[in-house]
Amino acid sequence: MQTVKTLQMLRTALAQLRVNGPTIALVPTMGALHEGHLTLVRRARAEADHVVASIFVNPKQFGANEDLDAYPRQLAEDAAMLEAEGVALLWAPTVAEMYPAGFVTNISVAGVSEGLCGGARPGHFDGVATVVLKLFNQVAPDMAFFGEKDFQQLAVIRAMARDLDLARPHVDAIIGVPTMREADGLAMSSRNRYLSAGQRAAAAALPRAMTAAAESIACGTDVAEALAALEAEVLAAGFGSIDYATLADSRSLAPLGALGTEPARLLVAARIGSTRLIDNMAVDAIA
Ligand code: PAF
Repeated sequence: MQTVKTLQMLRTALAQLRVNGPTIALVPTMGALHEGHLTLVRRARAEADHVVASIFVNPKQFGANEDLDAYPRQLAEDAAMLEAEGVALLWAPTVAEMYPAGFVTNISVAGVSEGLCGGARPGHFDGVATVVLKLFNQVAPDMAFFGEKDFQQLAVIRAMARDLDLARPHVDAIIGVPTMREADGLAMSSRNRYLSAGQRAAAAALPRAMTAAAESIACGTDVAEALAALEAEVLAAGFGSIDYATLADSRSLAPLGALGTEPARLLVAARIGSTRLIDNMAVDAIA
């Protein structure tokens, strides 16, 4: 596996790869890799001739009081994991390479960016959309893989690809991969490593309460009642606050007061200590 840090080196390396097989899959990451990321890589390997992974802790998607400085950086360890999974090329630009002096463009996807995490983290999805569009243009992949763990992020990226008629990748080649979970159900996340042992044990209450709420909504319990029970359970387990606990339309992410016939998603963001965890689950629509 080759690691490249400049755009010029990236272009040369991509041209070499394409000689040995035409299809390229991109797995964009911010590093601090875990089994969830490696699952994306495995899916990508199964579907393309070459996998390009990127590692870039994108300052534009962190708010002023967020964890940009604390975000784990472990390039050598991550590179070894990617190499072991058969990644051909690691694109690991510096901030100056990604955003040279004079960089002024912002990609903003309205609607789907606005509620949920967009409400709690103003500007976050502009930062995500801007860097992802740059990564798409830099690598020009045939397909790109993202975790469903960041469900709203996936919806934002798909909306951008559709609205801007992206060709590489086409919106239909933006592939969402189901969330990987720890044995107790906690969604894998690079931020889980911020949790103390006590918080880590308590954090399993989040997927547990969500599974119960998803099942009870699917069985006909009133949505507001099910969400209130979920919130009470999560707070009782030791979470300090809940940013949101919402049932939403799976495509538009518009909040739903009741389950209909369209696919629905339960989405939650909650804080435990100073760590903000997010998770989401499908809720079976009424047949
Ligand atoms: O999901 C992530 O790790 C990031 O938001 C992404 C998509 C790599 C953009 O920085």
